[in-house]
Amino acid sequence: MDLTTRYLGLDLKNPLVASASPLTGDPATIRRLEDAGAAAVVLPSLFQEEIEAEEERFDRLTGAGEYSWPESSGHFPALAEYDHGPRHYLDLIAAARAAVDIPIIASLNGITNEGWIHYARLIQEAGASALELNVYFIPVDLAETGTAVEHRYRDIVAAVRASVSIPIAVKLSPAFSAVGAMATSLRAAGADGLVLFNRFYQPDIDIERLRVITDLRLSDPAEIRMALLWIAVLSGRVPFSLAASTGVDGPEEVVKYLLAGADVVMTTSSLLRRGPEHMRTLVSGLERWMASRGFSSLAAVRGIMNQRAMAHSRTYERANYIRILKGYQPVP
Ligand SMILES: Cc1cc2nc3c(=O)[nH]c(=O)nc-3n(C[C@H](O)[C@H](O)[C@H](O)COP(=O)(O)O)c2cc1C
Repeated sequence: MDLTTRYLGLDLKNPLVASASPLTGDPATIRRLEDAGAAAVVLPSLFQEEIEAEEERFDRLTGAGEYSWPESSGHFPALAEYDHGPRHYLDLIAAARAAVDIPIIASLNGITNEGWIHYARLIQEAGASALELNVYFIPVDLAETGTAVEHRYRDIVAAVRASVSIPIAVKLSPAFSAVGAMATSLRAAGADGLVLFNRFYQPDIDIERLRVITDLRLSDPAEIRMALLWIAVLSGRVPFSLAASTGVDGPEEVVKYLLAGADVVMTTSSLLRRGPEHMRTLVSGLERWMASRGFSSLAAVRGIMNQRAMAHSRTYERANYIRILKGYQPVP
């Protein structure tokens, strides 16, 4: 059975990737994921805020000390010796590289194109095979337009592209007016792939205690539909890699995303819920399904139910939406 695929120019043994989570922040667990069949892992994000906080501490230590008490500058380490920036992240990349043979994809998480971008270069130098950019931005400023938000994404991608040569994927929010046009413009800015979608952590309200609930709820399979739609629409029509992310629990969701046209399928919640070895269930479940349907290679599966393939039925379009609404049978 040939499960090989290509993502961001990387040749992978199968399409299963562990997305960013605490599991991928530990080299021993990355090893377990590899042993269970993961074809690549995305490390947890290094956040813009972490980089900026570290640099601010550095400036305070050096600048303030020298200004107030010149003699005290001798207490501070020389610039080259100082642990400048969240070095532990670079150490994690190196440790992960040493622990496994599969590609290590690093993740940078930020919302502006200044200051922290230079870390992309350090991440490349530390040995990451690719870089995932997570622009987790919620435009709560009512004056910030959709166009400005789109520019923000593009500017970040362009700034990172200018500083690294490794492939870049963008973990995209589903909240764009025109996901397809956004994808195309990110490609023009230098992205090599898209992760569909970023999962925004939405609050709830406790009506007894009158408190906002900000807990972390793992995803469930009902949540695959938004990403399934856009993977199906983009598959075969944009010249770059597509990673499906959100809602995978078992092999069924993996198969659905592949049929829609994903190059790889990512999962976090299923691994947090069931442990890293669940990866094995996902890979073997995919193999079993392919064998049962007579497929011997992933290439024969990928995208066969994308929008292009289903164009005659307009499955993914407005006409189908109207048919569904009109056809609904309410309880009498
Ligand atoms: C505990 C936890 C930590 C996460 N940390 C990160 C992170 O550091 N960077 C990131 O881009 N996504 C992070 N995510 C999001 C996941 O990578 C993934 O996009 C999300 O959980 C949706 O995928 P799933 O439905 O397979 O869980 C985290 C998710 C969880 C549950």
